Amino acid sequence: MLKKLFGKKKANNDYENNSDLLETIDRDKMPRHVAIIMDGNGRWAKEKGMLRSAGHTAGIKALKRVLKTAVNINLEALTVYAFSTENWKRPTAEVDFLMKLFSEYLEKELDEMDQENVHINFIGRTDAFSPYLQSQMEDAKKRTANNTGVKFTVAVNYGGQDEIVRAIQTLANEVKENRLSPEEISPQILEKHLDTADLPAVDLVIRTSGDMRLSNFLIWQTAYAEFWFTETNWPDFTEADMIEAIVDYSKRDRRFGGLSKRNEEK
Ligand code: IPE
Ligand code: IPE
Ligand code: MG
Repeated sequence: MLKKLFGKKKANNDYENNSDLLETIDRDKMPRHVAIIMDGNGRWAKEKGMLRSAGHTAGIKALKRVLKTAVNINLEALTVYAFSTENWKRPTAEVDFLMKLFSEYLEKELDEMDQENVHINFIGRTDAFSPYLQSQMEDAKKRTANNTGVKFTVAVNYGGQDEIVRAIQTLANEVKENRLSPEEISPQILEKHLDTADLPAVDLVIRTSGDMRLSNFLIWQTAYAEFWFTETNWPDFTEADMIEAIVDYSKRDRRFGGLSKRNEEK
């Protein structure tokens, strides 16, 4: 139905005007926090006979489109998976290329993100990056700290298991120093020690490129998330795709272990 509304979908298109469709979304049923596993850059490039690096470069354009969409629809929080704790297993040349691309992205996009009232943050073990990249991330956070628009979080050198272990280490130290008793540890306390402490739970996870797994992304925060998968490779992901995912989400019956509203009324 959506495809019909949009007409033929253009690959790697510029921003489409989907404002009419957006108005059909019940604002009460909008997700607060959307998390995206931006996958398939390599497959996109392979299909075109290009190098994997070209896929990553094209992936940056898709990221810009999606952030713009988040701004347009007044999304509260958008978190994107840019580099996992497992991605170090890739060839050094690819890892180096990704770092360079990330650095260029921050350099080129920061002004515009700031103008669009985007509040940027980074999660993961950012201390593994070069001092220059770390200073860019610090600068981006500081510059946008007072912005009140979309909370845009980039997960870099991020792993959900690593994040939980770091939180537990902090809690264990608090116990050791008698500032906390083991019985006081609750899901709420643990959550406050995660990198995402300032964000609401994830409502919707989008993964592109056909694989249906979390790959160590936000494993705690997605406990009750809805999932939306598409075969589309990340560089081809458009504003229309993002809106299609959100419209689909808005129709889901989220029960959180209880009964659906309809059943409760009976
Ligand atoms: C996602 O695309 C980008 C990163 C993981 C950094 P991939 O590079 O994983 O692309 P595929 O999965 O090999 O197609
Ligand atoms: C997940 O994609 C990580 C990012 C998108 C950054 P991968 O391509 O690394 O995931 P797997 O290896 O297919 O699970
Ligand atoms: Mg992949």
